[in-house]
Amino acid sequence: MADRPTLLLVHGFPLDSRMWASQVEALSASMEVLAPDLDGHGANASTIARSSVDAIARSLAARLDAAGVDAVHLGGFSMGGYVALAFLRIFPQRVLSLSLVDTRANADNDAGKQGRDAMIARVHAEGAGVAAEAMLPKMFTDAADGAVRETARQWMLAQPAASLAADLAAMRDRPDSTSMLAGIAVPTLVIVGDQDPITPPADSQAMSDAIPGSRLVTITGAAHLSTVEQPEQVNQALGEFLSG
Ligand code: MLT
Repeated sequence: MADRPTLLLVHGFPLDSRMWASQVEALSASMEVLAPDLDGHGANASTIARSSVDAIARSLAARLDAAGVDAVHLGGFSMGGYVALAFLRIFPQRVLSLSLVDTRANADNDAGKQGRDAMIARVHAEGAGVAAEAMLPKMFTDAADGAVRETARQWMLAQPAASLAADLAAMRDRPDSTSMLAGIAVPTLVIVGDQDPITPPADSQAMSDAIPGSRLVTITGAAHLSTVEQPEQVNQALGEFLSG
């Protein structure tokens, strides 16, 4: 894969790699950009989804091995950020930099875990539409383009219910990564939408404050899915960080 640096982008829930399409297009001029569909998602929907963040991280490492890639610039959105922190914990020598997009380091509290269990039951019983209806109001601001919102809905509806249940279990059981933040030694960028209701700006500020030398960029006019609602701002933040 030549000498170009590799950026690995990990998607969130209940999505697939299409949520990174704008970033892949913008950043591919200067880097190899890998934005895989996790097992059980998108183009990999026929494979079995992993139900822990560590297992997802190991599956990504195996893909890098297969591609002959050792170390990467690592980016993760929301659930993908939980996976990125797990990847950094397991494979610290394989991470050149870290971009944490609309995500958080803490684990679910008891109420959060109960919410995951309830959603797992509903997804099994009713399908991916339940997850789409729960997530869409949090993904976009009221000002978001209707067509963009509908496109994201279709991405969500395309994910197998069993994969979404596996994602929910992985998020429910993820470890608290807060204690590792102070020890992160690679350049780190934290990005958050200014209206993100799932991983709010104050939490991203605290996470960034805890990571030595980390940079925080707040995206104007974005809820949770900032990569899709305000792609130019996200592309600029990532581009400046990764070229710096
Ligand atoms: C995501 O966007 O990946 C998830 O909503 C994150 C979460 O529910 O914790």
